[in-house]
Amino acid sequence: MSSLNDSAQRYGVVSRVLHWAMAALLLWQFLTVLAPEDSALETLIGGTHKSVGLLLMVLVVIRLAWALYNRGRRPAALSRAASLGHRVLYALMLVIPLLALMRQYGSGRAFEAFGMTIMSGFEGGKIEWMIAPASLLHGNLGQLLLVLIVGHVVMAFVHRRQGDVDVLGRMLGRSS
Ligand code: HEM
Ligand code: HEM
Repeated sequence: MSSLNDSAQRYGVVSRVLHWAMAALLLWQFLTVLAPEDSALETLIGGTHKSVGLLLMVLVVIRLAWALYNRGRRPAALSRAASLGHRVLYALMLVIPLLALMRQYGSGRAFEAFGMTIMSGFEGGKIEWMIAPASLLHGNLGQLLLVLIVGHVVMAFVHRRQGDVDVLGRMLGRSS
């Protein structure tokens, strides 16, 4: 099943599903924080930020492993800037939920997601060093990620066709 894997011409099914599923979940994730207070949207999805964030954390670990496994047979990056940009997106997708989950643990409070107990919480004081990094960086890096994603989408359309390469097509499953 070669189409599961990436090739020089296009991303395979697994990479594409991970890319578009995470794009949709990230959109959801940003809507949970951008929804105006007390709006219908906030009532509907406001309480899902931590659970969806945990899901994104799991997905990015799988995606990183898949990217490493497919290294050497992925479509070539258009430029050094594109390749660097994708690395920064990966780094932020990993660090942002990681810091938040560390803060969640350090708070000592129980954490449940999708009906499962993820952290059972503990008695006694909070663990300050686990809390401080997220309090400093989680929101700011989250906003930076949003800005970079907007740039990424703009560049995808700018480069939609680059010479012979159908850049958008290779993430949509069309061979170029
Ligand atoms: C919402 C969050 C998004 C993130 C975090 C993201 C991240 C990435 C990353 C890391 C890659 C490198 C390949 C990979 O490892 O998957 C990539 C490729 C790509 N993305 Fe996105 N993406 C997002 C949304 C979008 C959207 C909405 C579009 C379309 C308009 C898009 C178009 C593309 C295209 C065309 C490529 C392939 C680039 C190439 O072949 O050189 N992405 N994206
Ligand atoms: C990729 C995953 C995630 C993204 C992109 C993300 C993004 C964001 C953004 C943009 C904000 C708002 C910052 C502001 O108000 O200016 C925020 C706040 C927050 N997030 Fe996340 N988040 C993610 C995962 C998580 C996870 C897994 C948790 C907890 C388990 C979490 C807990 C919180 C909390 C408690 C706040 C409010 C306090 C703060 O701003 O640090 N987030 N997040």
